[in-house]
Amino acid sequence: MHRDTEVEHLARPAAAQPPKAANPVPILTIVVPTLNERDNIKPLIALLDAALPNVDWEVMFVDDDSTDDTARRIRALALVDPRVRCIQRIGRRGLSTACIEGVLACSAPYVAVMDADLQHDEALLPRMLEILRHENVDLVIGSRYADGGGLGDWADRRAWISRLGTMLARLICKQEISDPLSGFFMCRREVFESAVRRLSGQGFKILLDLLASSSRPLQVCDLPFEFRTRRHGESKLDTLVIWEYFALLADKLFGQVVPVRFVLFALIGTVGLAVHMSILWAGLHVAALKFGMAQSLATLAAMSSNFFLNNILTYRDQRLRGWRILRGLFTFYGICAIGATANVGIASYLFNANQTWWVAGILGVIVGAVWNYAMSSIFTWRAS
Ligand code: GDD
Ligand code: MN
Repeated sequence: MHRDTEVEHLARPAAAQPPKAANPVPILTIVVPTLNERDNIKPLIALLDAALPNVDWEVMFVDDDSTDDTARRIRALALVDPRVRCIQRIGRRGLSTACIEGVLACSAPYVAVMDADLQHDEALLPRMLEILRHENVDLVIGSRYADGGGLGDWADRRAWISRLGTMLARLICKQEISDPLSGFFMCRREVFESAVRRLSGQGFKILLDLLASSSRPLQVCDLPFEFRTRRHGESKLDTLVIWEYFALLADKLFGQVVPVRFVLFALIGTVGLAVHMSILWAGLHVAALKFGMAQSLATLAAMSSNFFLNNILTYRDQRLRGWRILRGLFTFYGICAIGATANVGIASYLFNANQTWWVAGILGVIVGAVWNYAMSSIFTWRAS
């Protein structure tokens, strides 16, 4: 009830006004990904309004079905301000893909990406636009690491992780950039469009993705800013986001050769091997089990841990929940059993055909892993 009144209340003044001339066509779209940012929306629009008095701008919020009513709040404000727009995605997650869809859903010749939580300095936007319009620059980055910028009140641990991440970015970034992990930048639309099909879309780091996916080194300009403290809501950066950063690096490094999911799946497979060997050791030396028994327990434990880790990490976007976990687990056991048989069969065949023992062994493992990956992607995680 209360919410409907809010919408009506906001809608009324607009309806009462005489018809206006056509709204100006925006020259700048600010794409803002949101996930539970209810209390930041209104202040952000007010700040944009104050920062960009002489620019025809629009703000495109891309909300991943926030549980705190963020999308509804945005639409309520959009009823009285045509510069405000909203895409609400259902059953999807991801800061980077949200930004990509936001940019593609609008047409302004200049696009900016900015967080909703007021941590980025909107006062930079007019300068960014000026630079892009009048100088030979493709991309302007709001940088925490350029002279005059700063991390604000970040805890040492977070600052340390950020610096480490910035160093790792060099693995995939073709140029020296002071803050490739910044979430605040503006570019010409065609710069984005020319890279869009190569973007990986993994995780949080859309700027790094863009830099690494562009076909030529971009002309970049840094504008320093001090990262502000979040006042409403909370950060979504957690261990999963750090894992997604590795997924982005893996995709950019090996994505042309193998799908990134397979790299993650194989990585978890090696963790499974460690689980297997530990349980086998404990079964033999601590519980004094017979070898067959210890080996069976170790196999079951390794398959189970692989299933759960893949469910949380490799298939984080298609994570099975509730009773589906049980069905997924049993299909996974079945698939792995066949994979193991294929692995042993092929390795033995090659070994008997006079292949070196380790070549036969590795090829067996690869066949088993590819089988497990391919089949589980169809029967464990794709089946709805
Ligand atoms: N649509 C959508 N989907 N939005 C998301 C998601 C998601 O899965 N996850 C986070 N967001 C939104 C948040 O609502 C916020 O507006 C913005 O993305 C940034 O999320 P935060 O959780 O506030 O991230 P942060 O402050 O820890 O890190 C930010 O700043 C860093 C430094 O510039 C991010 O922009 C990082 O990418 C950036 O490195
Ligand atoms: Mn933030």
